[in-house]
Amino acid sequence: MTVNIIGAGLAGLSAALTLAKLNIACNLVSLQPSERAQSVLAAGGINGALDTMGENDTVREHISDTMRAGGYISDEGAVTDIAEHAPDIIRELAGLGVPFHSEGSRLILRNFGGQKKKRTAFAKSSTGRMIMTALIDEARKYEANGIIRRYAHHEFIKLIQKEAVCCGAWIRDTYAAGEQTPICLLGPVILAVGGMNGIFPEMTTGTTANSGDAVAAVFRQGVMLSNLEMIQYHPTTIAIAGKRCLISEAARGEGGRLYIRRNHEKWYFMEDRYPELGNLMPRDVVSKEMDFCLRNTECEPPVYLDMTGISKEIWKSRLSDLRDELIYYLSIDPAKSPIPVSPGIHYFMGGIDVDRSHATGMPGLFAAGECCSQYHGANRLGGNSLLGAIYGGKRAALSTAEYVSSGGAEEILYQHAYHEAQNSLKDMEHVSSGLAVSEKLKNKIRDILSGAMGIVRNEKSLEKALYELNELEGEDLTEREQNRVLLARAILLSAIHRRESRGAHFREDYPAQDPKYQGLVTALFDGKQIKVGLKQSTIGAEGHK
Ligand code: FUM
Repeated sequence: MTVNIIGAGLAGLSAALTLAKLNIACNLVSLQPSERAQSVLAAGGINGALDTMGENDTVREHISDTMRAGGYISDEGAVTDIAEHAPDIIRELAGLGVPFHSEGSRLILRNFGGQKKKRTAFAKSSTGRMIMTALIDEARKYEANGIIRRYAHHEFIKLIQKEAVCCGAWIRDTYAAGEQTPICLLGPVILAVGGMNGIFPEMTTGTTANSGDAVAAVFRQGVMLSNLEMIQYHPTTIAIAGKRCLISEAARGEGGRLYIRRNHEKWYFMEDRYPELGNLMPRDVVSKEMDFCLRNTECEPPVYLDMTGISKEIWKSRLSDLRDELIYYLSIDPAKSPIPVSPGIHYFMGGIDVDRSHATGMPGLFAAGECCSQYHGANRLGGNSLLGAIYGGKRAALSTAEYVSSGGAEEILYQHAYHEAQNSLKDMEHVSSGLAVSEKLKNKIRDILSGAMGIVRNEKSLEKALYELNELEGEDLTEREQNRVLLARAILLSAIHRRESRGAHFREDYPAQDPKYQGLVTALFDGKQIKVGLKQSTIGAEGHK
């Protein structure tokens, strides 16, 4: 049976390679080719307790740092899985030719946010691109012998379901002219479609080709989502050409410092307020502090990132690509002048709810990478996203392989699904008209959500946003537009449900953390309404408190 992977970024490629090595055929479907996936933009590095820097780093500490940064709502078993596999994953990537920074045979690790020890392997500040290049090349071998079949420039429409089992996916060729009949792919599905950047155009460091539409479509089809309120604001971004451009945390890892002018003096507020980790506190803390500074009447915006103290040698060997980019886009040489920065949306900790094996609640459907809610809890640790994508893709593929070999869905169910799909082809012929999302609606949803889902939130503005969304529903919307509104509503309801502050979710009306909310907020659409609940987190025996 062929497995259908939707998304050809890092998680999708990792899943495809894992299946191919098991000699299991897969269709690799993506709107954009892998070379243009979001993973290519990942900058600073990938975490693994390799302990090559003489600091006695351990896997246990990687787990603790991840749990702490995530506000203790991540599944500790799943976090243990990524941390334990991380050193081997990095060694495997190095074996594939990823040019990680090294001295002789020793991998050099850098400092990254929220971690006291050097644990982040890197290739200048283009780590994602380097890893993707190696994996794209690796995948070509299997494409050549047909084990991996690419469907580039194809988009996911919806799942094919039979008796609440996922039996495949409807996809569509976006490069074919005019109306065309969608393609029906039968078999288990792994969704690896990335974050929901498309619902925040111009506000995110991510590509808006990762629209959130696939997640919204499966949500309407009854797949549970979780942790939607947890949206990460990266502290150091700049607005360029209609999007937020990331200045990698690596800049602070290598000595960059944040300051604002307070009473006309430079105030290095992170160093002042958090002497231990200073500028390298987890992202939620840094972004919140920046927000407070910007509201403080004694302070004079903007916040600056001062990289002028970084040595020539470090610029040349570790950050030259970042420097080139800033000179190119801003005409500022960061080695000579501080850069004005502000927080921007960077990562969605929430998405499709999966268990430790990356299975969703719907048999036959698995998910991996940023589209699923796994590992990162209330706030992701920098350097854990590439790791989560690679490990998650592998784990989802192994679980799918097990599902297939254990009989998975019965053959008869697929046969019925196939016949039903054939019968519905006529209805699907005009499907493309339902897939349009107008710029006007995109921007409206963004404006409504951003008014309520900023760094600081409160019930009043969340309720107001919900009301505004309800008004949109009265308009004449396409199917996909309705799905977007539904997803936006689930995000707001999740944020309203969590009446506490934790990680990236700071409620000024509930500023304290409340143990009652130690878990993931879940959202399920029953065909009529969204049901919001709480799934208690599984903290292991050691408790990590
Ligand atoms: O700042 C960064 O380089 C981002 C890394 C990450 O999100 O893991």
